[in-house]
Amino acid sequence: MSFQLTNVPAAQVHGAGAMAVEVDGLRLALFSLDGEIFATGNICTHAFALLTDGHVENGCVECPLHQGLFDIRTGKAQGTPVTKDIATYAVKIDEGIVWVDTQ
Ligand code: FES
Repeated sequence: MSFQLTNVPAAQVHGAGAMAVEVDGLRLALFSLDGEIFATGNICTHAFALLTDGHVENGCVECPLHQGLFDIRTGKAQGTPVTKDIATYAVKIDEGIVWVDTQ
C-alpha cells in the first residue's frame, strides 16, 4: 500500500458529495456515500468525461456525457455504453484528511 495525501478534508467531500482531485499524476474522484468516502478514477472509460460532473444515485455515478453508470464502491461498469470498469482506490482518513492508495 502507498497512501498519498490529497490535502482534501473528509468533511469537504461529505459536504460536496463528489470532488475531483489529482494525486500522483492520477485524476481521481472522491465520492461521499453513506458516511464513507470512496475513490475512483475520474475519467469515464467510454470517452472523455469527468465523473465528478455526473449525477450520483443509488451508489452509482452516471457519466454526464452518455449516461454510462459505474458502481462507486466497486468501479464496475453497469451496462452500455460503458463496458470497462473504472479503477478504485483504497481510502483512509487521517486527522480528518483524505489519503488514497494509488498503488
Ligand atoms: Fe461516459 Fe460516454 S463518455 S458514457
